[in-house]
Amino acid sequence: MKGIILAGGSATRLYPLSKAISKQIMPVYDKPMIYYPLSTLMLAGIREVLIISTPRDLPMFEELLGDGSRIGMKLAYKVQLVPNGLAQAFVLGREFLNGEPGCLILGDNMFYGQHFKTMLREAVESAQHGGAVIFGYEVADPRAYGVVEFEKEPTPTLPEGKEDVLRVIGLEEKPAEPKSNYAVPGLYFYDETVCEKAANLQPSARGEYEITDLNKIYLNEGTLKVKLFSRGFAWLDTGNCDSLLEAGNFIATIQNRQGFYVSCIEEIAWRNGWITTEQLAALGKEMKTNYGRYLERIAAR
Ligand code: G1P
Repeated sequence: MKGIILAGGSATRLYPLSKAISKQIMPVYDKPMIYYPLSTLMLAGIREVLIISTPRDLPMFEELLGDGSRIGMKLAYKVQLVPNGLAQAFVLGREFLNGEPGCLILGDNMFYGQHFKTMLREAVESAQHGGAVIFGYEVADPRAYGVVEFEKEPTPTLPEGKEDVLRVIGLEEKPAEPKSNYAVPGLYFYDETVCEKAANLQPSARGEYEITDLNKIYLNEGTLKVKLFSRGFAWLDTGNCDSLLEAGNFIATIQNRQGFYVSCIEEIAWRNGWITTEQLAALGKEMKTNYGRYLERIAAR
């Protein structure tokens, strides 16, 4: 499966921080924000990725990540001239996907938690067999997100290993009165019909091609799966300066406590078998920081 990272938008909620540079290039503790969504795709086993951004910001991502060969990946870039909705990723990415299934992740979405890799690999597998897989995550206030409506509310504290079998009956984008507390994170897996479906969408009342409308097509077809993240899982927001700082503190806390780095793309590439131990050590040597020492240390283990 191929992946798309959408890293556009003007991030006005972060002004003046984001006035002159892309939000998705900003630091979340010790690495640029885009490392986090990129690492999610890598954990899913996705090696070919298209990065979409504005004409102003795209060159910066190219400078940061290049063609991806240093981490055993194949990266491509595409400009989004007008920020007119997330579903446009599949109009702009049509040639890149070339009739194959695709995963979309938003450049500001960060995930951290146990069994994530298994969930990702299952989602890839499922979408490859047809339909779409999206996720649900319980939040205190879901009004800023896409929201899931269930036939029956999920059980919040199911015993380990037990899964609710829930029927999803609706999806709404930023509802004033949400029908549940389950927000839809910016991570979506689709079968090979996605580009065709996206091409037929009509803009919403706010003039955007909504990802929620794309998901509704799958829902109406009866081919949409919504997987729930448990309460022990972290889906972090980076939308305003408080949540950006909190996300950075969260990553620093985990890394400094455990000694393992979160969303270290070089480490994941190495563990996936995409680069050799020698290549990993060489990448570490280039950086005179703790990040570089970390790469050298795991390569020497
Ligand atoms: C977008 C989607 C929304 C989703 C959210 C996740 O919202 O439209 O459905 O829940 O991303 O981050 P936006 O970030 O464009 O407000």
